Amino acid sequence: MKTVLITGAGIGIGEATAHAFGKAGYRVIVTDILEAEGAAVAEAINAGGGTAEFHRLDVTSTEAANAVVAAVEAEHGALDVLVCNAGIAHKVPLDELTDEKWDHTFEIDLKGMIRVVRAAAPKMRTAKSGAIVCLSSIMGVAYGWDEHVHYSAAKSGVVGLVRGLGVELAKDGVRVNGVAPGYCRTAQALSVQHSLGPEGLEEAAEFIPMGRVGEPDDIADVILFLASDAARYMTGQVVTVDGGLLVGRY
Ligand SMILES: NC(=O)c1ccc[n+]([C@@H]2O[C@H](COP(=O)([O-])OP(=O)(O)OC[C@H]3O[C@@H](n4cnc5c(N)ncnc54)[C@H](O)[C@@H]3O)[C@@H](O)[C@H]2O)c1
Repeated sequence: MKTVLITGAGIGIGEATAHAFGKAGYRVIVTDILEAEGAAVAEAINAGGGTAEFHRLDVTSTEAANAVVAAVEAEHGALDVLVCNAGIAHKVPLDELTDEKWDHTFEIDLKGMIRVVRAAAPKMRTAKSGAIVCLSSIMGVAYGWDEHVHYSAAKSGVVGLVRGLGVELAKDGVRVNGVAPGYCRTAQALSVQHSLGPEGLEEAAEFIPMGRVGEPDDIADVILFLASDAARYMTGQVVTVDGGLLVGRY
């Protein structure tokens, strides 16, 4: 049985991704700082006939990333797939964007990814196989987002992370790709304080060529594809999944 570890898998896109991999027959290592939500996701996968376990993992901690990956490897061997999904998108106008606020977002959205990759890569390289998928955003690959400069910068950073890792790990049979979601109906996008909110999401649906905002499943299925053998000749790429938003809005 192949093993996938997903960060931030208690809710939203991470939760949908956990279910997609569970249905595809993977052992799913659900990780999050949200312990009740994460445990419930693992429980639901197991109740549906799949295989899952929950581990608390705060991606701002190198020690925690090393410890969780080591514990999973000791039990199940090298990870086959790693999905770096955990992220925050706090609204902070430039005049309030202190070093602390900048660093907080980078610690989770960018450095939080390399911590887990760094822990999992050695055994993947030894196994000469593996796939890593990192979550960027349309705000990192094409759009600028006012009052979210730190978020846009971190999500652009994910593009560089995917490219660099893709090249460095290619010779060892480990592929690294990314997904850049458009507007997707999750707690993050539904936050009135930090993002579009429910009304903003409905308005966005009107200018999205496909006529609706994304659902977490829409993103999860592409992550599953990128991790699968169907994407065996792809590495270093970030795929936009946005219902035609970027190519259709002038
Ligand atoms: N929803 C969208 O419209 C959208 C668009 C583009 C990109 N994304 C990206 O997709 C990913 C998932 O977003 P979502 O919309 O599902 O958001 P969400 O807020 O619903 O879920 C984010 C998850 O990350 C977890 N998390 C936060 N801080 C963490 C930490 N320190 N350690 C471990 N986990 C932590 C949260 O607990 C939560 O489970 C994020 O990287 C986000 O930036 C989302």
